[in-house]
Amino acid sequence: MTRKPLMAGNWKMNNTVAEAVVLTQEISNRYEKEWAEAVDVLVCPPFVDLKPAKTVLDFDKTKVSVGAQNVHWEPKGAFTGEVSVAMIKEIGCTCSIVGHSERRELFGETNEDVNRKVKALVSAGLYAVVCVGESLAVREEGTTEEYVTAQVRAAFAGVDARDAAECVVAYEPIWAIGTGRTATPEQAEAVCAAIRATLAELFGDETADAMRVLYGGSMNVGNVEGLMAQPNIDGGLVGGASLEAASFVQLIEACL
Ligand code: 13P
Repeated sequence: MTRKPLMAGNWKMNNTVAEAVVLTQEISNRYEKEWAEAVDVLVCPPFVDLKPAKTVLDFDKTKVSVGAQNVHWEPKGAFTGEVSVAMIKEIGCTCSIVGHSERRELFGETNEDVNRKVKALVSAGLYAVVCVGESLAVREEGTTEEYVTAQVRAAFAGVDARDAAECVVAYEPIWAIGTGRTATPEQAEAVCAAIRATLAELFGDETADAMRVLYGGSMNVGNVEGLMAQPNIDGGLVGGASLEAASFVQLIEACL
């Protein structure tokens, strides 16, 4: 099974609307239309930038999709500060990142919250980019695969294979995020293979073979080739290197 790679930029809390428009325009200008056959590209700006970024891409007919970094599971109501799936869907988002380690660590997001968010997204016809990953303490303890695969099981509890097939899992070791310390291709491959084996247990081999598993954590133009050469790594979820059009586009080109 050959999976189409996905290169996704997670802008985190960077770029005002004016800055987001400039960055999106720069990505759009550099994007070659033929790439669409070989690689999917996604940008995940902050909420306020979603519509402006989407407008730029639509105007240029650039095949880069737009996703949110987070979403709430309830359809509407008294949830001050939250944004619903319907809201991001209406402005053309295809997905949301869910369970990023920064949300888990800094905002107390639990496995149960992640599961509710996945279900809310898939039931609206959007997909989830489910982030999983271990801390340095877990890695040093030697329990990385158990920890990460338990996160995968929890995220997809009660989700059926057809909906799961649309989703993406991003393996992001916490110790590699924003630190410049990337997992080696072998370390990343071992965990991504364990994730796929878990997906196969949950949803069957065919679905697991079709699902994309990304690596994230200090991915850059220097290490992307080695990571992308691994059989179970189908792309990247990129923070820092997605904030400059030149480096993000080089990462996209590494997937061709
Ligand atoms: P960096 O690429 O900046 O390490 O961030 C990775 C990440 O957290 C993407 O979601």
